[in-house]
Amino acid sequence: MEAPTYSSKQVAEMLGVTPKSIPSELRKDAYGPEDVWELRTTLNRFPPTAGLRRQLFLNFKGGTGKTSLSTSYAWRLAELGYAVLLIDLDSQGHATKCLGYEGEDFEKTLLDVLVRKTPLAQVVQKSTLPNLDFIPSNLSMSTVDLALMPMAGREFKLRNALKDVEAQYDFIVFDAPPSFGLLNLNALMAANDLFVPVLADFLSFHGLKLLFETVQSLEEDLNHVLDHVFIVVNSFNATFKLAKEALEALQTHYPEYLLPTIIRQCTKFAQASSEGRPVFVADPTSKGASDIQAMLDNVLPRLVAAHAAAVKAGTATKAG
Ligand SMILES: Nc1ncnc2c1ncn2[C@@H]1O[C@H](COP(=O)(O)OP(=O)(O)OP(=O)(O)O)[C@@H](O)[C@H]1O
Ligand SMILES: [Mg+2]
Repeated sequence: MEAPTYSSKQVAEMLGVTPKSIPSELRKDAYGPEDVWELRTTLNRFPPTAGLRRQLFLNFKGGTGKTSLSTSYAWRLAELGYAVLLIDLDSQGHATKCLGYEGEDFEKTLLDVLVRKTPLAQVVQKSTLPNLDFIPSNLSMSTVDLALMPMAGREFKLRNALKDVEAQYDFIVFDAPPSFGLLNLNALMAANDLFVPVLADFLSFHGLKLLFETVQSLEEDLNHVLDHVFIVVNSFNATFKLAKEALEALQTHYPEYLLPTIIRQCTKFAQASSEGRPVFVADPTSKGASDIQAMLDNVLPRLVAAHAAAVKAGTATKAG
């Protein structure tokens, strides 16, 4: 994928300034990602810190939007100025594809880290944004669950492997495969926050029960408590009566987790992922892009406030 270019209006939005406040000698007709970063540094416009957040997009059910949402969320966080690492955990390599790369072109994946003790820094790749890195995935990752099985401390491999690099990032975003196994258990153990993309149908609704049981057993058996759990309704189409009913059921049963912002069904979104481009690059004015932005506008202040409160209380850990 070619590096994106931005108008001064877009750049101003990303920096949180008015277009007029960009000094005239620094103005351009089109900005590349490096120009934006330079401008950000010159104007010292960095977003408020939320500590280090490790955030997992997971649903054991397939096709609910884990990849579409995690990649566009990670991409937008980077556009807003955070240092982000996106980790593709899925042997389908879809997150890798959404950034414009083919998983099979990479020799090493997280499998080498978790199973062959390759340092994680050696599998990190640079994206077209200077502050967005990623770890690619390909078919070789499909053997990871089996390979982890006989290992001691097998649930903690990912969390431990991240320690070497995590100080460099504000957000580490994981895109999980739709399965129930050791890799996803590792991802849950490494995560502070969980995003659960769901479709507004009753099948998705039932799958949530298993996920919440798993989260609860993490707390009880492995002593790992997630800081935030966000259920995100994806691909919502208000013209379907069933979708509205399923949404109401979610509001009734999971009010404390359900995000008020909903990601609407959006053809541009689907098209963008098939073309290997994040929706913010394919069409920043699409419903998909504006809905992800609305989700960020809801979530980010909460993460920032929780971090500030933890710092004040002296309970902030390195993980935020
Ligand atoms: N808001 C949306 N509007 C329209 N299409 C969408 C939307 N979100 C996702 N899709 C499409 O739905 C399909 C499944 O989405 P995606 O691959 O993100 O789900 P997933 O949960 O990652 O799937 P898997 O379980 O296979 O990893 C894709 O073709 C994607 O382009
Ligand atoms: Mg996926």
